[in-house]
Amino acid sequence: MFDDLKALPEDTILGVMARFRADPFADKVDLGVGVFRDEAGHTPVLDCVRDAESRLLTTQDTKSYVAPVGRAEFNTLVQELVLGKSHGALAQNRVRTIQAPGGCGALRLGAELIKAAASQVQVHVSDPTWGNHLPLLGGAGLKLARYPYYDAAAGHLCFDAMLQALDRCNAGDVVLLHACCHNPSGADLSPAQWNEVLAVLERRRLMPFVDLAYQGFGTGLEADAHGVRLLAEHLPEMLTAISFSKNFGLYRERVGALILLGAKPDRTDAMTSHVLQIARSIYSMPPDHGAAVAALILADAQQRQRWEQELERMRNRIQSMRRLLSATLRQKSGDGRFDFIESQCGMFSLLGLSPQQVVELRDKHHIYMVPDSRVNIAGITPRNAAYLADALLAVI
Ligand code: LMR
Repeated sequence: MFDDLKALPEDTILGVMARFRADPFADKVDLGVGVFRDEAGHTPVLDCVRDAESRLLTTQDTKSYVAPVGRAEFNTLVQELVLGKSHGALAQNRVRTIQAPGGCGALRLGAELIKAAASQVQVHVSDPTWGNHLPLLGGAGLKLARYPYYDAAAGHLCFDAMLQALDRCNAGDVVLLHACCHNPSGADLSPAQWNEVLAVLERRRLMPFVDLAYQGFGTGLEADAHGVRLLAEHLPEMLTAISFSKNFGLYRERVGALILLGAKPDRTDAMTSHVLQIARSIYSMPPDHGAAVAALILADAQQRQRWEQELERMRNRIQSMRRLLSATLRQKSGDGRFDFIESQCGMFSLLGLSPQQVVELRDKHHIYMVPDSRVNIAGITPRNAAYLADALLAVI
C-alpha cells in the first residue's frame, strides 16, 4: 500500500524547532516556534499552574471519561473570560463553548462545522497568516482565499486593501480574523479599524471565524478581546477558536475551546450537536488535565489574580524586548528601519528579510527564525540582543 507513498516536506515552524535543537552551538538563538521564554531562554511552568496541578493530584479521584464537550465548568469560565460576564450574547443564551484539543483542535472543529453546514463557502484568510491556518482549514475540504493584511517590506497594515477585498466577498463567506497579536506580523487592528471590519462583515453578510490564541499577550486580557466582543455584540453568527497554550503556558497539554455564537439559542444548539459529533468522530473527547488546571485557576479569585500577574510579567518581558531590539538596531544602524518592532505587539514580528537572508542568519550566525522572517520576540534576551542586531545588520 505504501510503496509509492512520497515523503512530505517537514512542517515549516516545527522544522525550525528541530533544526535549532540539533545545532550544538552554545550561543544559538531561537526565534522560531512561538513559545514564551524567560530571560534565561527557558519556557517555564507558571507558578499558578504548578499549584493547581498539585491540588489536582491530591483531589482527583477518577480518570473516567468526561464527555466530547469537555468540562462544563471550564467551558463556562472560558466564555466568560473571552466575552466578559455581562456580554449581551450570553444574556441572550446564544453562546455555547466546547473544549478542544488546543487552538488547533478548535480551528479544525470550526472548519469541519462550516464544511458540514455550507461546504460551498470560501474562507478568506489574511495574507500573511500563521502557517498552520491553511492546512487546518483546507484539510477540512474548505475553499480558501486570501485578503491582503500586512506589507512586510513597508512594516505596516494594508488596511484599505483588506477592506476592499472583504467588500468583494460573496454573502455567506467566512473571514478568518486574528483577535490580537497577529501571527506572524504582530500588527493588530485598532478599535476604530475593528468598527470598519464589523461594518463590512454586516454589509456583505460575512461570518467571522476569530482565532484568539494570545489573549493577554498584547495589551491585556480585556483589550485583547475587544474585537471578539464587538463582533459578538453585533453579528448573528460567529465562531471563535481559543488557545490556552501561551497565556497559561500549557502548550503540550493541548487546552483550547471553540465558542459558538448562533442567531438564536436553538441555532447554537444545532451547531453544538454537529461539533460534538465531529469531535466524537475524530478524537472522541479532549484531554482533561490542562483544562482541569485552567478551570481551577480561573474559578479561584486568588489563583486567578496570580495568573493575571504572571501573564502580565510575560507580556511586559516581550514588550521590553521589543523596545530593546528596536533601540539596539537604531543605535547600531543609525536609522529607524526596524522601529516597527517596538510599536507592534504579541509574540511575533516579521523582519521583512528574504529567505536567503534567513538562511544566512541560521548558517553563519546560528540564529533561527521561520523562513518568512517571522521572529519570536520572546526568544530575545538582554544577553543576545546585541549579537542578534549585529548579525541582522550584517546580512541586510
Ligand atoms: C507558532 O506559531 O509558532 C506556534 O503557534 C506553534 C505552532 O504550533 O505553530
